[in-house]
Amino acid sequence: MEWPLLLYIFLFYWNVLNALFTVEAPQSLYTVEYGNNVTMECTFPVNGKLKFRELSVSWEKKDELKKLVYVLLKGEEDFKSQHNDFKGRIKLLKENLNLGQSLLQITDVKLRDAGIYHCVIGYRGADYKTIHLKVKAPYRTITQRVVSTGHNEWKLTCQSEGYPEAEVIWQNGDHEDLTDKANTSYETGRDQLYRVTSTLTIKSRIDGIFYCIFWNKELQENTSAILHIADSADGNLWTENRRFVGATLIVTAFVGSGLLFMLCIRKARANKDNRTPVSSSSIKKLSKDKDTRDGRDASFEDRELKYMQVEKT
Ligand SMILES: *[C@@H]1O[C@H](CO)[C@@H](O)[C@H](O)[C@H]1NC(C)=O
Ligand SMILES: *[C@@H]1O[C@H](CO)[C@@H](O)[C@H](O)[C@H]1NC(C)=O
Ligand SMILES: *[C@@H]1O[C@H](CO)[C@@H](O)[C@H](O)[C@H]1NC(C)=O
Repeated sequence: MEWPLLLYIFLFYWNVLNALFTVEAPQSLYTVEYGNNVTMECTFPVNGKLKFRELSVSWEKKDELKKLVYVLLKGEEDFKSQHNDFKGRIKLLKENLNLGQSLLQITDVKLRDAGIYHCVIGYRGADYKTIHLKVKAPYRTITQRVVSTGHNEWKLTCQSEGYPEAEVIWQNGDHEDLTDKANTSYETGRDQLYRVTSTLTIKSRIDGIFYCIFWNKELQENTSAILHIADSADGNLWTENRRFVGATLIVTAFVGSGLLFMLCIRKARANKDNRTPVSSSSIKKLSKDKDTRDGRDASFEDRELKYMQVEKT
């Protein structure tokens, strides 16, 4: 653990002695989205074929304490001195060293990776450059829920994760602001992300439309979801709003194949008993729903509470 500092001092004096050796950073600021990969680059002069044994490369992060991200000393990689924050997520693209490029790849970028990095190179001289890394976490996926509380009143919930804290704005179908009537809570979830949950309780007729908008001031970004009031059989719905068409297609295909499967089973049964189970069972279901809607909601809440407790511990 002692030698990185020595290396640093050594490199520093080499730099003074050998002013011709300069490291360059083609890009001094990188902005990456949480969970994605980033490759940061700096370059150094290699005249002729690279002599690996003479090359030392390090990447360091300047927090209150210096954290070693990657070390290659005289051609040998050293992962023992790597800070825990970076374990298993760092790769230096070694084939590019021959071209005079030190390319550091960070996979699955975390919020705490944001900050200032030094790219240090020692090769017949020494120098370093400073590179900034910014990490953003947009409120991309909104999970929504619509619950009937009876008497034409509905409890609408939107939840999403991101960083920094987002305001949640509610609107009705005419885009009138309803934010005053909503309750928004902020929890710190996994990896410093905020889990923002907003609930609006409101009277509405069936087929009403509402919007929840996550307004991330710092990123100047809005993500919104549309909530449809519908008299669904279960009285509540959990649905996810994704911007990606791919996910929707998959879900559609999945539901489609599920329905097809159920149809086949029903047909098989109908053939067997020679009666019509489809209509009779749906009538039963409807009348049962009317009686037990409130009871069901309560049990759903119970289940949800338990789920949240499990998740917290
Ligand atoms: C990040 O890199 C890893 C390893 O190279 C790869 O498996 C993964 O798919 C990449 N992730 C993204 C979001 O590109
Ligand atoms: C928000 O939640 C608090 C505590 O759960 C409750 O007392 C308050 O009435 C709620 N406000 C609205 C507008 O729903
Ligand atoms: C996001 O939505 C809010 C409320 O509708 C609005 O005030 C703001 O200007 C919007 N910002 C962007 C960048 O669209």
